[in-house]
Amino acid sequence: AAKKGLIFGSAVGAGPPGSLTGSFEDARYRELLARECGVLVPENELKWYVLRPAEQAFAFERADRVAAFAREHDIALRGHTLLWHHPQWFPGWLKGYDFGNKPAAKVEAMLAEHIDRVCARYPQIYSWDVVNETVDPADGALRRTVFSDAMGGVEPVLDLSFRLARKAAPKARLVYNDYMSWEAGNEKHRYGVLKLLEGFKKRDVPVDALGIQSHIGAENADSFTGFGRPQEKDWRTFVDAVTGLGYDLALTEFDVHDKGLPVDFAARDAAVAAYGKAYLDLMLDYRQTKELLAWGLVDKYSWLQNQWLRQDKAPKRPTLYDDAYQAKPLREAVAAAL
Ligand code: XIL
Repeated sequence: AAKKGLIFGSAVGAGPPGSLTGSFEDARYRELLARECGVLVPENELKWYVLRPAEQAFAFERADRVAAFAREHDIALRGHTLLWHHPQWFPGWLKGYDFGNKPAAKVEAMLAEHIDRVCARYPQIYSWDVVNETVDPADGALRRTVFSDAMGGVEPVLDLSFRLARKAAPKARLVYNDYMSWEAGNEKHRYGVLKLLEGFKKRDVPVDALGIQSHIGAENADSFTGFGRPQEKDWRTFVDAVTGLGYDLALTEFDVHDKGLPVDFAARDAAVAAYGKAYLDLMLDYRQTKELLAWGLVDKYSWLQNQWLRQDKAPKRPTLYDDAYQAKPLREAVAAAL
């Protein structure tokens, strides 16, 4: 990765032992992260719902642990995320919040306080997902939240967040992050993201890159082997439009969902690796792609173990390493794509 001018790394959690992302407690996992990663991103520790248990409180302790580990091992730190603009991920106290008689000014003050304090605490973060997932995949529209209702629109909230981030972290790459993917069915989502990125340019909002989460995968073996050709072309059209606007790219949450693949490990791992390689080959073809982050490095710590279960209920194998910390074909595929 370094030879290509890219940075490679992974998400990691600092939850209590036994939690799905509590992997950070595991000595063998820490050893693997230290060996493989040029960058770490806290999986949940910088999100409002973790960092802001109450209006007056900032709970930095868990994010601090990730930051300390990164510093100790000379690993860079990425930030995710200053504003997950989706009501589901707001802390409870923000639901139905009373913004008083000057609601727009109150939102401004709250966002400024949050962004200033978090950026000041982690000045080493070189790349920030400032806003996450504000485009509704169903129709490409921008999601409303309590903040946008109080401000009188979604765009002012997003623009303000980026402007505040630029001031608070002047050297960091500022990223808009979302999960539109290359698979068919994502057209409306992509269209909405592209419109948003065009708007940022028109309004001169300081956004440097599009974060493409890259949670790729398919429902069944057919879609794994048959990918490509029509949807690959549409995807390139989208990525060309994004880079044509002058944006860099970051692959921020790479994993390969193996939901519909046979239970047999060898066949499953080979299909996952081939699919991941095809995707990375395409994306690394763009000189604008500057970062590649895996969303967890070991299968048992993948968030996908909790989501969209396989029909046979077998554990998933979406990451680079198996549960015994052995490299899988996906790890070789990533290395080969780089
Ligand atoms: C996920 C984490 O992996 C889970 O532990 C958590 O329960 C929910 O969030 N897109 C994102 C990430 O931007 O923040 C999400 O992370 C995965 C999808």
